[in-house]
This record gives sequence, C-alpha cells and structure tokens, in this order.
Amino acid sequence: MRGSSASFCKTVLCVILISEYSTAVFEKHWLPDLEWQTASNWADGHIPEIDSHVIFPEQTRHAVGIAAASDLRLSEIDLPRQGLLALARNGQLQLSDSRANAKISRWSKKGNLFWADPANWNGTSIAAPHLERVPCRQDDVVLPSVNRTLSILLPVREIEVKSIRLSNEQQPFTEWEWEDFQDRREFSRGRFTVKYADPHLATHDCSSCFCQGDSQSDYLEEICAIQRPRCGFTGCEYPLTVEGHCCLYCGGRVYTREKLALMTVQIVADEALEGYAGKVAWHTRRAWDGGVEILIKEKDDYSGITIQEAVENLREMLQRSGIDVMIAETAGAAMKDSRLAVTLGPFFGAALAVIALLLSAFLYFGYSLENVLSGCMEAVSSVRDGIRADKQKHGFARFENVPEGNVQIVNNPGMSGREADGNTEITQVAGGRFENPLYRSKRSKEEHKILDIDAPLSLTILKGKIDDRLQDEEMDTEE
Ligand SMILES: *[C@@H]1O[C@H](CO)[C@@H](O)[C@H](O)[C@H]1NC(C)=O
Ligand SMILES: *[C@@H]1O[C@H](CO)[C@@H](O)[C@H](O)[C@H]1NC(C)=O
Repeated sequence: MRGSSASFCKTVLCVILISEYSTAVFEKHWLPDLEWQTASNWADGHIPEIDSHVIFPEQTRHAVGIAAASDLRLSEIDLPRQGLLALARNGQLQLSDSRANAKISRWSKKGNLFWADPANWNGTSIAAPHLERVPCRQDDVVLPSVNRTLSILLPVREIEVKSIRLSNEQQPFTEWEWEDFQDRREFSRGRFTVKYADPHLATHDCSSCFCQGDSQSDYLEEICAIQRPRCGFTGCEYPLTVEGHCCLYCGGRVYTREKLALMTVQIVADEALEGYAGKVAWHTRRAWDGGVEILIKEKDDYSGITIQEAVENLREMLQRSGIDVMIAETAGAAMKDSRLAVTLGPFFGAALAVIALLLSAFLYFGYSLENVLSGCMEAVSSVRDGIRADKQKHGFARFENVPEGNVQIVNNPGMSGREADGNTEITQVAGGRFENPLYRSKRSKEEHKILDIDAPLSLTILKGKIDDRLQDEEMDTEE
C-alpha cells in the first residue's frame, strides 16, 4: 500500500520527468557504411592492399565511397553493372601493370539501400513495430557525416520527417536546403519523396498524429515487402497482430482506449518495467484509433514467462494511476522451431511463394521488369533516387557501363582530367587499359543477354535471377 506522501512524491517525480521527456530528441540515424576503408565491407574482412584486383558485384546498385587515401593503386577493377563509385575531390585512382598474383578483394555489399528498410535505421527499441523503426513524421533524421558516402533509395510513397541533419552538424538542413538537393548533380533524377512535415504536425504528442500520414497502407506495404522475408519462425503459441508490424508479434501488449498523452503513459510504463530493463524492451505508441498501447518484447528469444509478469505489472501500475486498461495480453507459451521435421513437403511451394512476393515487391518499387531481371545497362542513371549529400568534400565520377560506350582509359603515363562544373576531377592512370570484364564479355558474346523481356518469361529463368536477389537479403531472424 502506498501512503499519500508517497503518491505526492510520485506526482512531483512525474512533473520533473515530463519536463525532461518533452525536451528529449527522437533521432533516427542512417546506419549503412559504404566506405572503402571499412574492413567489414570486404568479403575477406580486409581493405584491399596495393596492386589488388578489386571486384564489385554486378548488381552493386549503391554508391561506394573511395577514400581520400592518397595512394590508391590497383591492378584491376571489375566495375558493377549498376552502381556508383564516389571519388574524393582530387583523389587519385591509379592502375598499375602488375597483374601477376594480384590479390583479389571483393566488395561484400549488394543491392539498393532502401530508406524503407528498418534494418538501416537505429533509434527505436526492438519492441517497436517496423513502421515506427523507420523515420516517422515526428523524428529528426541523422545522415552520416559530410565526408562519408551516402546512397539511399528513397521511398516510392511521399513521406514526412521533422528534420534532417548530417551527423557532423548540429543544425538540421532548412526545408529550403533539403528541397534544393533534388536539383543537384550528385543526385539521380527521380521523385524526391522525403519532405519536411508541417511543424504543427511534427510533435510527438498530438493524439491524432500517426507515424506517417493518415493511411499508412502503401508505405507499410513498401516496408513489409523488404521486411517480411526476414520474419523467420514465430516462436510463440498465440502471436499478436500489431499495427504497423510486418511479422507476427511474439510479446506482450497493454492497451488503453483513453486518448492520453504518450508521455504520461510512457512514464508509468518506464516505472513499472524498470526492473525488467535487462530482459525486455518496450515501446509506447499511438494506436490507429487514437488510444495508447505499450508493446513489450523480450531481448532474447521469447520465453513467455517474463512477458507475462511484465504485462501484469504494467497493467496494475496503469490501473493504479487511474488509467483504464482495456487489453493486457501476451502471445502465450513459447514454441520450439521444429519446422525441419514438418515442412519437407511444402518446401517447394514456399520457395515459389517467396519468389512471387519479391518480384511483386520490386515491381511495386517502380522498377520495370528490365531493371529487376536483366540488369539493363541504362539502369545506372535510373537508380532513381540514390542520393549523396556530401556536397563539398567529394567530386563525382561516374563510370557508365554502356555497350556502345567508350569505357576505356588509354595508355597514358600522365594525367587525364575531366572538367566538371569548374571543379576538376582528376583520375590519374598509370599503365594500361581500363579493364572491364563485364564490358568485354558483352562484346565478345553478342548473344549474351541476361533476359529477353520481349520473349515469354520462363519460370526457371525467373527463379535463377531472383535467387541471386534472395541471396542479397540478409536473413535476419530476430522475430
Ligand atoms: C545510432 O547510431 C549512431 C551512429 O552509428 C550512434 O551515434 C547513436 O548513438 C545510435 N543511437 C542509438 C539510440 O543507438
Ligand atoms: C570523416 O571525418 C572525421 C573527422 O572529421 C574522421 O574522424 C573520419 O575518419 C572521416 N571519415 C572518412 C571516411 O574520411
């Protein structure tokens, strides 16, 4: 039992906490690192040595930041069919003649980096549904610092955020500065779908403001097309369906229909769950009907018992604070993954279902069939919304891998320069021809077309192509 002096203390504590929370920042950081100098970006975990032979995957589809390192000398580079290399201004890339026993280094990342991919952002607890792990209208977005390379495929649907800044800056871009990026040369042309929200809507505590827009359905579908293939095994007996979450949810939920301020509920939740902080994560969110719900998830695999306790604790605490709890539920008992024994039969069916799903996902993102399946040559310029914001420190060099193009750097011991907007980008080339095996094989095998779009599409060909894509996805089984 609590005396009245104890509850008075609580009230004081609440007031102090509220004032602290209201100045809290809700930041989401863009995580992907595309730097040459990052060892984990290379398949063998080592940055290429001098005179290495560097190989990019055919479908790199993002920009790679070649460091401002002064002595970057390689023997050969296999360029991607689709992708970008961002050279530092006045940076040098030298090609040497020493081909013999050149060490091979492979770039390990493949595929587009989607704004709508929850794995590319941090700043929310693992209990949050996928929709709220990518930036919401109320969030401040933090992009990598100015000397790093940024490559993002913006969402198809227009979305809003509160502000955007670079991690080396204190101040966010003004709305005008941000809008201005879409006209810059470094950005591929396309729809510039990330906007600044109306400052009145971009507060965390308006009771009818959702993470994105009023109807989240298209944007959620865009997120889930990326996320769903990673759902993995559902380790609980009665999984919950959570708004904005792409997988079934093994955890707990406490919901009140009262349209309270999020902060009020969050403070009670933080207090009720304090003792579980080592084992569970929680997330307070505005439900789509205006109520407030607290989601609870175990940091390790779902066990059921801890969640049951935490939910019960929270329900009591809320009720004691005068909040009417409508739902307090958990996902039941834990389940062991015994699928190997059971699912041998439907295995092939499942594989096909994933293929169809991915294909429709990529088509949904606005790629034509050619882009998805044939790795069409022009796609470098059609990687529509890839953006780079490191405006000052890097020049911009683009090797386009087109069949008619003259992708050759001739034997020239001196310098070959290129004028661009008054900034001179120098590519120094020592030694022989620019090797481009993709380009070569295209020439020698006239017939070698990845996929003839005009011909009827065969499922086996389709499957082969999509399998390649499937391997790109990191099978993340956190759910
Ligand atoms: C998110 O990532 C950034 C950069 O990697 C880091 O500085 C920041 O502390 C992280 N934030 C959270 C909440 O983990
Ligand atoms: C970017 O600059 C920071 C400090 O200004 C430095 O610590 C960091 O190594 C630089 N990163 C790259 C990729 O050049």
